[in-house]
Amino acid sequence: MRPGLAEHLDAVVKTLLDHPYAHPRITGVGIQITPSILNADFAALGAEVGRIGSADWVHVDVMDNHFVPNLTFGPTMVEALSRATELPLDAHLMIEDVDRHAPAYVEAGAGSVTFHVEAAAAPVRLSREIRALGGRASMGLRPATPIEPYEDLLPELDMVLLMTVEPGFGGQPFLDLCLPKIRRTRALVEKHGLETWVQVDGGVSLETIGRCAEAGADVFVAGSAVYSADDPDAMVRELRAKAEAAALTVEP
Ligand code: DX5
Ligand code: ZN
Repeated sequence: MRPGLAEHLDAVVKTLLDHPYAHPRITGVGIQITPSILNADFAALGAEVGRIGSADWVHVDVMDNHFVPNLTFGPTMVEALSRATELPLDAHLMIEDVDRHAPAYVEAGAGSVTFHVEAAAAPVRLSREIRALGGRASMGLRPATPIEPYEDLLPELDMVLLMTVEPGFGGQPFLDLCLPKIRRTRALVEKHGLETWVQVDGGVSLETIGRCAEAGADVFVAGSAVYSADDPDAMVRELRAKAEAAALTVEP
């Protein structure tokens, strides 16, 4: 352990106990775990969302067979899920023509809607429309899409979703090449004094979540890690503990 790290951690823990969420790396509501139901049992989704009561959000991967080579849910399913769980829904739209379709997901009950910047014709207008309908607006980036061209859009966004696999399927290995972009995104959020959440999605597990948190992510999607566990809710709690521990080791 680095000299002085134990004392630093003690001081950070004391600060957190005195002032929850006061640590500079943990803005807004802190570390959040958003399990993806992509690898859950689609024939029993109502019961499946009941197995992750400790989660902060349910991550719903919407795929259209065009933006990605896979097909999943539409707004009707989001509306049904919103009645099946008390947890808020985090809709991740991997669809083309997203400017036209995204508003329907807020209307269907999603509390957060992520559109991909590669698919959006007018991301500023779309973010404002999502917010005007009462949703949190989030912009997704594939692994090869840089964040820098979108620096000026950050105030329009409640969250940036950084894909850490190529979108389309659960169960793929985490791409470590995405870690520098997580750091750069966090740095831009801090540079502008924003509280924009930085979400990572793809290959997040007990093995990889610490690296993501250390790099500056604060919202973590985990699909196969949660739904392949014997006890999905226990896995949510373990992932949260790992991420919190890793975030606390970062010097402010
Ligand atoms: C992939 C989806 C992810 C996926 C994550 O395109 O966006 O949300 O479900 O699954 P894991 O955690 O298994 O990579
Ligand atoms: Zn996703």
